[in-house]
Amino acid sequence: MTASMTREEVKERVREAADIVQIIGESVSLKRQGNTYRGPCPFHNGKDRNFTIWPKTGYYKCFVCHEQGDVFSFLQKRLGMDFPTALKTVAERSGIDLPRTDPRGQSSPDPREVLWGTLATAADHFTSVLWSDPAAEQARAYLASRGIDRDTADRFGLGYAADGEKVLSHLRNLGLEDARLTEVGLRTPGDDDRKPGPRFWHRLMIPIHDAAGHIVGFGGRTLGTGKPKYLNSPDSPIFGKSKLLYGFHAAKLAMRREAKVILVEGYFDLIRVVATGIDYAVASMGTALTEAQAQLLVRYTRQVMIAYDSDRPGLEATFRSADVLLEHGVRVRVVTFPPGDDPDSFVAKHSRADFEALLDQALDVFDRKVQLAERGGWFADLSKKRRAIDKLLPTIRVTADPITQQLYVGRLAEASGVSADVLWREIGVTAPDQGPVQRAIPPRASRSSPRPQPRLIPGLNAEREFVQYLLAARALLEPVASRVEVSMLRDEASRAIYTALRSCGPDATLEELTRNLQPEEIALVQEMQAKGTMGANPAQAVEHCIAALRERELKEQSREIDKKMKYATDAEKNNLMHEKTRLRDAMRVESSKRRRGAP
Ligand code: GTP
Ligand code: MN
Repeated sequence: MTASMTREEVKERVREAADIVQIIGESVSLKRQGNTYRGPCPFHNGKDRNFTIWPKTGYYKCFVCHEQGDVFSFLQKRLGMDFPTALKTVAERSGIDLPRTDPRGQSSPDPREVLWGTLATAADHFTSVLWSDPAAEQARAYLASRGIDRDTADRFGLGYAADGEKVLSHLRNLGLEDARLTEVGLRTPGDDDRKPGPRFWHRLMIPIHDAAGHIVGFGGRTLGTGKPKYLNSPDSPIFGKSKLLYGFHAAKLAMRREAKVILVEGYFDLIRVVATGIDYAVASMGTALTEAQAQLLVRYTRQVMIAYDSDRPGLEATFRSADVLLEHGVRVRVVTFPPGDDPDSFVAKHSRADFEALLDQALDVFDRKVQLAERGGWFADLSKKRRAIDKLLPTIRVTADPITQQLYVGRLAEASGVSADVLWREIGVTAPDQGPVQRAIPPRASRSSPRPQPRLIPGLNAEREFVQYLLAARALLEPVASRVEVSMLRDEASRAIYTALRSCGPDATLEELTRNLQPEEIALVQEMQAKGTMGANPAQAVEHCIAALRERELKEQSREIDKKMKYATDAEKNNLMHEKTRLRDAMRVESSKRRRGAP
């Protein structure tokens, strides 16, 4: 995003990058239907799936109430945000940097602009050296030996850094100062023992982009057997290897289209897989997936196929990555290669169809773990069984999607012969109620890490409905006010309206009630008043909402306990278990109230 873009252009870019399905999916239960997602309309509180989202164009519309718009208008209308806030929210959620505005509202250039520009200039230079400099003969031969043709190389912007001093002097001649070359990692700063100088010598240069498509760093591969095999740009204000995924910016559309992504380990794995025509792939650049990388992925898809090496370290990285993803409610499958192969070498030897056959055979990560344990004879022997179960339980524990978690418990019970009840107790939670599936999209819940801010509010509908029924049946206000503190509401607009209701009393006029409210909140009050009680019994409906809010609080407390449980001593565990049982019971009460009170 550059400062010179018009407001319209900025809006367009952010809309393109936004995951409207993910954002709306946090407050509306959506189901995929062909090229669209459908759910009950939150605007007229419909029950049928008349509310439709077209992810490709980024628009939604309700066929019944004709409410329509884009991701921004959704946040504005549903959450009462103003446009700048909606734009900022969506941009942050989509990994887009907005041009900064100074206090007078004028755009000022993003200071990172010059760093991106510097790297783009360097990348151009590396590319031109690769294809036209006699010094790059060996690099061209190397690419040919790995089966990478000119088109593919250009698609990935590959280049060559031959003589490092020449690289720096070329860039200096273009007016780029040493300080800046150092800041972006093309020049080493030097220390007591070593003089400052070029970082990359005789390396094949692979540009790495951020989510918005700027070049932010390089991976440099030696052509021979020199060490290290890959030399990467150092961390800088714009580059952090553990926060980026190689190939991500180019795979965004494809991940959405396919509703899945293939996660590979290395640069060449990614290049080869994409070159063969499978474009929904990204690379984690040699490490197990980090929390930040997982957060990038779940914006686009909830199905990840991990295609790392199938050797021991590869499997370990696979399972570590899988746990991080499971915490985000992602479905994880594991692609298994013949011994010694990675995606790059496999595709080089076989065809795209063979690779796709491996993808089709990919097992759910938990099935794969159980399969390995079974093959190793871990369930055949009593003393080994205990250890095998202990190794498998943590994965079940971190799995955020309740249905997946339940399936895993079932699978382990089946494989080990230990009853599911006993396994649930070991996991530290009692078996979940076998209720109907509430959400088509698994929650974004992560138990180990703070969620990215800002986030939408789970239980928002209950809050809004709570306020709506109180507005419609003011007589309920007094008995309810003593039971429901304002702090139980998270949504700013709901809180503001509830606070106004409480302080103005049941007989307040609309004018008195709205005196201290923001314009969006007043609009919301009017909208709610127009809807009235929607034919429900307000006293019952309010109880239903209160139960939902209490249940939410209990669930959060229970999640906190799960977190503590991981690090607790045996004695502490006992107390935590008691507390947990108490919460479970309380939750059952609220949830049956909620169902009974349902309008
Ligand atoms: P090729 O030999 O080029 O096919 O590499 P590979 O991808 O098969 O190598 P490997 O499986 O050893 O490494 C996978 C990924 O780990 C690479 O793509 C790099 O991102 C990273 N990596 C490998 N070696 C190094 C290294 O020496 N230093 C650093 N920083 N990263 C490395
Ligand atoms: Mn390889």
